[in-house]
Amino acid sequence: MRTQVGIIGSGPSGLLLARLLHLQGIDTIILESRSREYVLGRIRAGVIEQGMADLLREAKAGERMDREGLIHEGINIAFDGRLERIDFPKHTNGKVVMVYGQTEITYDLMKAHIDDAGGIVHYEAPAIRVEDYDTESPRILYEQNGEQKELICDFVAGCDGFHGVARQSIARDKIKTFERTYPFGWLGILSDVPPVKEELIYANHERGFALCSMRSHTRSRYYVQCKIDDKVESWTDNAFWDELRRRLPPEEAANVTTGPRLEMSITPLHSFVAEPMRFGRLFLAGDAGHIVPPTGAKGLNLAASDIYYLSRALIAYYKDKQTDLLDRYSETALRRVWKAIRFSWWYTSLLHKFDDDPMSRRLQISELDYLTGSEAGLTVLAENYVGLPFEKFE
Ligand code: FAD
Ligand code: PHB
Repeated sequence: MRTQVGIIGSGPSGLLLARLLHLQGIDTIILESRSREYVLGRIRAGVIEQGMADLLREAKAGERMDREGLIHEGINIAFDGRLERIDFPKHTNGKVVMVYGQTEITYDLMKAHIDDAGGIVHYEAPAIRVEDYDTESPRILYEQNGEQKELICDFVAGCDGFHGVARQSIARDKIKTFERTYPFGWLGILSDVPPVKEELIYANHERGFALCSMRSHTRSRYYVQCKIDDKVESWTDNAFWDELRRRLPPEEAANVTTGPRLEMSITPLHSFVAEPMRFGRLFLAGDAGHIVPPTGAKGLNLAASDIYYLSRALIAYYKDKQTDLLDRYSETALRRVWKAIRFSWWYTSLLHKFDDDPMSRRLQISELDYLTGSEAGLTVLAENYVGLPFEKFE
């Protein structure tokens, strides 16, 4: 088999890239290790930046998002018995974020790319490794129906997430990695109950962090910081709701509507960057190249900015044989990646309980007091949360 751009992984990165290239007449084939149903069943991100929303519109997959997504003009931060609101438009020249689930985005991209446009995705076809990436004909070795096969490409996009094979196909001495793990995780619940407040609440509490998020006016997503080795099996629904309420200010706690879980899971927190993001004709994008802790909702949005840069570079190559955007991809993408890595690390450090040291806690509270009381502090929070701009090439 042969294609112009071989894509490993049909998460949001892979599907968005395929869709943007397809609209410019560039052929792609996606190889995905899981089934279509499994990919759609994963509950992940919920907040998208304006840059990503614009890219979904450009991909002609933004119609339902514009109809059903919730525009949020701010977030709340709870600490020391207080609740402070950060007003995004006021501190960012009018920017906002959109609450619309990753599951819905994935569904919309699948519909646009596969069902409506006939784009090719091979499900249950795991890539094994990428070969000859430093030649003009890189190849993806993969498995399908128990047989080993090969996809020959002009370029390979590694959109296969943190545990994928694209990054692992690179010789160790050609790649540099940076990593930080955090000594806790997030226990999350999804439930068909109305959200406690119309905007998100990030809570710093002496028992640990909590987050009140949502997917719609009738579906809530809540998280509490948990022990790194905690197990979902040791949490009943009631235990979760009790712990969430303990970590919120009294008025918000009283407003929590409880209900049975649709899903409950634990996410470890991790910062990771691989450099560079290009190896000959193999390009890494999204979680395949970097991971952020979910505090601040940057993971999916970073995947979108990588795809913005990579799609423009590939389109410039096929339209005008121009290679300079491909040559600059790694440097351009990483510049934005590192800023989001820094923000996610900082925002995580500000809101979570790391130890029992009273001094650490007082320093956090004092920083939150300073940030929410200073125009400069509010601007730093707001402009990072709504998303830093994409570099433009036109
Ligand atoms: P993935 O979504 O991981 O997709 C990779 C795909 O590759 C998968 O379908 C996988 O099955 C496939 N694959 C893997 N290996 C192979 C192989 N060998 N062959 C073929 N296919 C393969 N981000 C935000 O921006 N905002 C948020 O609010 C937010 N909240 C989050 C909450 C949670 C609980 C979690 C876990 C994450 C959250 N994120 C958030 C992060 C976000 O979900 C990820 O950054 C995003 O999924 C990255 O997309 P991706 O396409 O790069 O990778
Ligand atoms: C979510 O809704 O899943 C979510 C929202 C904001 C975050 C992280 C996750 O910072």
